[in-house]
Amino acid sequence: MHVLTVLDHPNPASFSSAVARHFMDGATAAGHSVELADLHAEGFDPRWSMADIEPDGHMSALPDVVAEQDRIARADAICLVFPLYWWGMPAMTKGWVDRVWNWGWAYDQLDDPERSLQRPRSGVLLIPAGARSDEIEGEGYLAAMETAWMKGTFGYFGFSPRKLELLCGATGSEKRRQVLLEKSYRAGLDLQPPRQVRQGGKSITVPG
Ligand SMILES: Cc1cc2nc3c(=O)[nH]c(=O)nc-3n(C[C@H](O)[C@H](O)[C@H](O)COP(=O)(O)O)c2cc1C
Repeated sequence: MHVLTVLDHPNPASFSSAVARHFMDGATAAGHSVELADLHAEGFDPRWSMADIEPDGHMSALPDVVAEQDRIARADAICLVFPLYWWGMPAMTKGWVDRVWNWGWAYDQLDDPERSLQRPRSGVLLIPAGARSDEIEGEGYLAAMETAWMKGTFGYFGFSPRKLELLCGATGSEKRRQVLLEKSYRAGLDLQPPRQVRQGGKSITVPG
């Protein structure tokens, strides 16, 4: 498979950057080709602006957005790596999703809000988080993310199968961080091929 990793962190020495590298190493070891979208290093602009909107209200095909869509078109699997900020996505990832997965390309709400216009892709979210797993689960944050992201955002985009890996305790001891990096490597190594899903009323399969 061709695997796209989308990294949201300005610091190449960050834990998130290390997570992305370990994931890609695992995917490479499994025989996949890998490509990195390093959003900060590449200067992606996450701000949705009037330039994104055509006079008729549809989304413009701006060159930076089309370049990201072309990357996605090449990929059979996508991994997003971003640190958990305020129990959500940092602004860069949020803006990338808002601008790139746009109406008419990713989804068409008028036809059917439940189905992506995209072919199915294997999807993984690797999310370093400062909190402990008991806090995240006990307070209901994990359930909220599962609903909003796995059923909502990434389900609508056609991620199938999809996996949410919260890397809890990412600011903890070196030992803890090593365990999380090994988990990231394993997520790349064990990446599953896209699964058959219903799309536009038809069943389609993508070769692995
Ligand atoms: C602005 C900001 C908001 C944060 N919000 C959360 C949060 O809501 N929950 C959490 O568990 N950790 C939170 N953290 C901790 C980060 O998730 C943690 O620092 C990060 O995962 C460490 O990885 P890094 O070294 O790649 O930045 C936050 C950190 C920052 C800077």
